[in-house]
Amino acid sequence: MTAIKALDSTEQPTGYHLPPLPYPFDALEPFLDSETMWFHHDGHHQAYVDQLNKVIAPYPQLHNLTIEDLLRRLDEVPEDIRLAVRDQGGGHANHQFLWKVIGSPRNTQPQGRLLEALNDEFGSLTLFQEQFTKLALKHLGSGWVFLVINPENNKLEIMALANNDSVLLHKRVGLLICDVWEHAYYLKYQNRHAEYLKAFWNIVDWEVVSARLDNFYAGKQQL
Ligand SMILES: [Fe+2]
Repeated sequence: MTAIKALDSTEQPTGYHLPPLPYPFDALEPFLDSETMWFHHDGHHQAYVDQLNKVIAPYPQLHNLTIEDLLRRLDEVPEDIRLAVRDQGGGHANHQFLWKVIGSPRNTQPQGRLLEALNDEFGSLTLFQEQFTKLALKHLGSGWVFLVINPENNKLEIMALANNDSVLLHKRVGLLICDVWEHAYYLKYQNRHAEYLKAFWNIVDWEVVSARLDNFYAGKQQL
């Protein structure tokens, strides 16, 4: 891995930006309401991007890295901001990942290689969903639950990470992500955690999740 280089005088630092939500705020109704989605995307996600930009502002050599590279190369980030970059950058990366794998409820199903892998690893889609939900229920508070593939053995794993930790820091490739921070559901579900997690399965876009596994096997980079 090459060292992070300072930009030369002709390069303009870009920093990080909030990508627009890839669907309208009310697209996930009735499972997630537009107010929750607006606060979540325009409020919480924007705040992570703003904080990240603030933290890296004195270090122009970090301004042109993709968020994936910034997290993968965290050990090269100056020590005084490393923790903040892990937290704010992880928040940005995890939310960006989340918006991609959820979408309007249209009853998609895992396909092809993903369906086979879920059956091989967990027994069935239903058994996988039960295990994932069980772990998510234990982990509610501030954190995320993921379906990942481990590139060392090509096996699927369910992984729970606290705060804004990213699977990129654990050498895994994320296929699916669920936000279990209270801000993800509290306006609609309050303390009815199980109801939120049950509703979550209705907005998972399994076509995207299946494509992510195919992309992994095709060697394509993806957040
Ligand atoms: Fe969130």
